[in-house]
Amino acid sequence: MKNYIKAHEWNIIEEGFDPHLNKISESIFSLGNGRMGQRANFEESYSGETLQGNYVAGVYYPDKTRVGWWKNGYPEYFAKVLNAANWIGIAIEINGVILDLAQAKVEDFSRVLHMKEGYLERNFKATLSNGHQVQVKAIRFCSIADDEVGAIKYQIKALNFDGELNIKSYIDGDVKNQDSNYDEKFWDFVADDEANNSCFLTLRTKKSAFEVCTGAHISVQKNGQKQELAMQAIRQEKYIAQQFTVAIAKGDEVTFYKTAVNLSSQNYEPQQLLQAAKTVLNNAVAKGFDQLFAEQQQAWAKKWQESDIVIEGDVAAQQAIRFNIYQLFQTYTGADDRLNIGPKGFTGEKYGGSTYWDTEAYCVPFYLATAPQQVSKNLLIYRYKQLDKAIENAQKLGFTNGAALYPMVTINGEECHNEWEITFEEIHRNGAIAYAIFNYIRYTGDADYLAEYGLEVLFGIARFWKQRVNWSQAKSQYVMLGVTGPNEYENNINNNWYTNYLAVWCLKYAQEAATWVQQNAPQRYQELKSKLNFSADEFAQWQHIVEHMYYPYSEEFGVYLQQDGYLDKEQILVKDLPAAERPLNQKWSWDRILRSCFIKQADVLQGFYFFEDDFDFDAHKRNFDFYEPRTVHESSLSPCVHSILAAKLHDEARAYEFYLRTSRLDLDDYNNDTEDGLHITSMAGTWMSVVEGFAGMRVRNDKLIFNPFLPQKWKSFSFTVGFRGANIKLSISKEEIHIVNLAQKGLSLQIHDKEYELAAAEELKISNAVLA
Ligand code: BGC
Repeated sequence: MKNYIKAHEWNIIEEGFDPHLNKISESIFSLGNGRMGQRANFEESYSGETLQGNYVAGVYYPDKTRVGWWKNGYPEYFAKVLNAANWIGIAIEINGVILDLAQAKVEDFSRVLHMKEGYLERNFKATLSNGHQVQVKAIRFCSIADDEVGAIKYQIKALNFDGELNIKSYIDGDVKNQDSNYDEKFWDFVADDEANNSCFLTLRTKKSAFEVCTGAHISVQKNGQKQELAMQAIRQEKYIAQQFTVAIAKGDEVTFYKTAVNLSSQNYEPQQLLQAAKTVLNNAVAKGFDQLFAEQQQAWAKKWQESDIVIEGDVAAQQAIRFNIYQLFQTYTGADDRLNIGPKGFTGEKYGGSTYWDTEAYCVPFYLATAPQQVSKNLLIYRYKQLDKAIENAQKLGFTNGAALYPMVTINGEECHNEWEITFEEIHRNGAIAYAIFNYIRYTGDADYLAEYGLEVLFGIARFWKQRVNWSQAKSQYVMLGVTGPNEYENNINNNWYTNYLAVWCLKYAQEAATWVQQNAPQRYQELKSKLNFSADEFAQWQHIVEHMYYPYSEEFGVYLQQDGYLDKEQILVKDLPAAERPLNQKWSWDRILRSCFIKQADVLQGFYFFEDDFDFDAHKRNFDFYEPRTVHESSLSPCVHSILAAKLHDEARAYEFYLRTSRLDLDDYNNDTEDGLHITSMAGTWMSVVEGFAGMRVRNDKLIFNPFLPQKWKSFSFTVGFRGANIKLSISKEEIHIVNLAQKGLSLQIHDKEYELAAAEELKISNAVLA
């Protein structure tokens, strides 16, 4: 755990330069706009420890799988989001000495992420080996208003010398992924171009043949005066630079404006890429840095209006929640239904930058409440478009009749995970995709989605479960053998309660959805009936499973058992584990973990989170009290679910404790892994802890319900959620709940047990309603 980020309500601040923390800060201060993103690397040269990272969403390389023991059905490759061309580079030589913070004396260093306005700022004073001192201020952003554009304003002031700055403004595509399986580079050179102050580099990915054209324009001012300088082109392997010299005298300040664009063949024909890049770059340059910056600030202001959470009385908590919201919107904006949310977003390479069940289980609720409806709909459509691949994937494993198994990890719909216990067995992910459809419709009321897209997906998933269970003669019930639940510290187990429960729920929901489509869109129903070739008989088979599924249960503890035989394990609690033995995944052998009772993340409790209305308060309490003490929370997805359940059980202190673990996970580097990148998908869980946990927000019977409490440390908190055309701001303090309907549409809602109607633009104050 680290504690070097300064507390501030809106900014993330690092003061002082510690090279040992650099890779962590590169992750924390990352930038992105949904289409491209990058780690907070330096513009000038840096020879110290760094993980260089620039990423273009959806552009991947199918890296050949590397496994020790090949098993039939394994995917051939792991699709990785690629480290792409570095466009930020401005190499600076001062009277022959390279400006490099690893070689210079660095003073007054600060790195600030301005979340409200959406930009990164860096300041420092450097003394070079020749004694020359410079003062630098750099501002950079990836434009959320125009997601193909990025911009830098880099100011350098000569403090004690006269002489020359020798500058190379470059695009470097000779980069590689640190996680490359065979140490290969993934890009081939296609073309470059250069004229006046602009240069371009087009690269093509090996195998997947994506082309990306990166363009950059540099302009220079000295003491506010534009400089016309002769540029010399330098070409090296997958690298192009424009080199020039600026005379500088003591006290002079030189400013470089670097504007860059990234365009990919996902959106342009390859032969038109360069021309399109020129057009986009010219337009951005014509606007100029100040206007691009103003547009960026306006776009972020709009995002914050729809999604901000304000916490009074706890700056660290305030900073953390905004950091989580900010990073989520940097990663995914919903502009393109081919894109998704990798667990590390644009902040690192781990996890391949692909899509996991994290999206449906954790991120969808966040985007449902904080962004226009189309944003979460696009996340659903992403899976709809990959249905054929999910059916192919299931076929490879021996399933038939349109059964669909969505991958555990994917970019293009094909499975990439290659650990058999997850690839073949962690099949609960399929259920999360069905659940997201249900959740989306419950929240938005857009049931038409079922007819349009949803039902086909639900059918594929239901058909999978139908074939995945088997009838046990011994039990006279259906069982599900050889699975891995969300708790990945158990593999190849039988009857994981969560998976069995989820499978049955999917079979029920698919039937309900079919009935809805039959009644509300009869023509589409007939169309789907002939396309999917289903009959009443198939529904009857599903129903038989629904009515005869086996669920492991302990009479002794009154809890659902995580799996068959769970109680045969030695029952030790986490509190009795020596601290030196944690985290278990780093300290224990895998077989020891598998034989232990310790739980990585919510498993039975994930089921209680999804299906809370199926269980009463006492059942919640018994299961929480049984499982949480056995849970090590070694997945970033774990604390948030526990926080929400603790809040429901009125255990406010625990709810807050879990919240703290999730909200500052990366800022304080709790797990010593922030340098690999941020835990983007669990950030949505942090938001859920506040809105679903502390504020107790639920949707029932087409209505928003709140059961709020105020964490003791906070004076108040408030947040905005959109719901079916209404937009409400809820402020919760000890004294009152204050609700404002910001939209032109009324809504009815429920606070604790009371119903309220809120007309357009109306306010409501409820006193003494908060459990403090
Ligand atoms: C968790 C999974 C999750 C994955 C990506 C793993 O550690 O156990 O549930 O999908 O990380 O976030």
